[in-house]
Amino acid sequence: MIGVAILGHGVVGSGVAELLMKNEKKIAFSVGQPLYLKRILDLRDFDVPYADRFTKNFEDILKDPDIRVCAEVMGGVHPAYEFSKQLLAAGISVVTSNKELVAYKGAELLALAREHGVNYYFEASVGGGVPLIHPIYRCLAANHVEEIAGILNGTTNYILTKMLGEGVSFEEALANAQKLGYAEKDPTADVEGHDACRKICILAALAYGKHVYPESVFTEGITKITEADAQYAKSCGRVLKLIGRVKRLENGKLLCMVSPAMVNQQSQLANIQDVFNGILVRGDATGDVLFYGKGAGKMPTASAVVADMMDAALYPQNCPSLYWEDDGVDHVENHLETTSAYYLRVQGEHAEKELSEIFGSVSVLHREDALPDETAVLVDPMRERDFQNRLEELRERHLSVLGQIRLLDY
Ligand code: HSE
Repeated sequence: MIGVAILGHGVVGSGVAELLMKNEKKIAFSVGQPLYLKRILDLRDFDVPYADRFTKNFEDILKDPDIRVCAEVMGGVHPAYEFSKQLLAAGISVVTSNKELVAYKGAELLALAREHGVNYYFEASVGGGVPLIHPIYRCLAANHVEEIAGILNGTTNYILTKMLGEGVSFEEALANAQKLGYAEKDPTADVEGHDACRKICILAALAYGKHVYPESVFTEGITKITEADAQYAKSCGRVLKLIGRVKRLENGKLLCMVSPAMVNQQSQLANIQDVFNGILVRGDATGDVLFYGKGAGKMPTASAVVADMMDAALYPQNCPSLYWEDDGVDHVENHLETTSAYYLRVQGEHAEKELSEIFGSVSVLHREDALPDETAVLVDPMRERDFQNRLEELRERHLSVLGQIRLLDY
């Protein structure tokens, strides 16, 4: 029997406890011995059948020689970071769903795990219940990853699905996502793209071997997206999605960003709805591999956490291939130096003429119920810095910019 513990009994933590008990026999069969949930750390009191296992004292877990694996599902950097460091230094493997912590401290915690011969696993930190991290560093290990792009946040994909597909308001869709246990404690992290940003940083580090800090990554959420943009997207065979992406550029730097995008209706990412995530990984040997499944929620996320606990129990020695370094260098290219095609919506007199003069050839889009003097166009790919400069010119000619969204083709 292997003793395990959980730090945090919130949405994910309670799911981990329930799954360990519900699938106890299956888990014991796979690991070769039972995983016994000995302790749960939480400052709150809970009326659950396993209430006797709660403690408010971290030392009860750290100093318990039976506990070999601990799930950190508290969220946030502090005190999860301090607890994780102490556990790893004490020879206890740590598994986590905490993308914020991995995005900020992943390199350091992986090094600490290596130093102490244990594991730091974080399958649940990206894609919720979708197996993604292990497949990238194990099953796709023979590939150079050329590019990763995907829908990495379940809450915003749920909101966009409800808002643009079913006419539900942004506020109502967000409130539902919170009720369903999809959203972060502070849902600003979801709707402003920070959660997806942390996830793309983790995937970038995993794929390219260097730590990528969220501050280096251009990040834009879904709060500026309107029904009008969705109608224009539809008119040109596209749909609106929040996309996180990373790829290595010819100059060796990484194009890494999170932003709304109009993706082609034929794209595999276009039909990913509700809380589902879809992540496309392009390997130089495999070509495109698509990972799809529930990206948030109690039991899907618990599934990934418990699988990591089982892996850490089954193979207690450090896994050397799950590793990246923090070399102190910012590997991310300034987004203004990258290239994009754009959808642009403006308002003002003679907009079509002004747009053609400034952007060259543009494709004009149409929708019913367009605002007076509203014009929407698609513009050819150009350096983002040039695009922004031309937007300035538009403003100088008294046109208001109502919307600007990248066009992506995957
Ligand atoms: N708030 C996150 C999401 C939870 O909606 O994707 C899973 O990481």
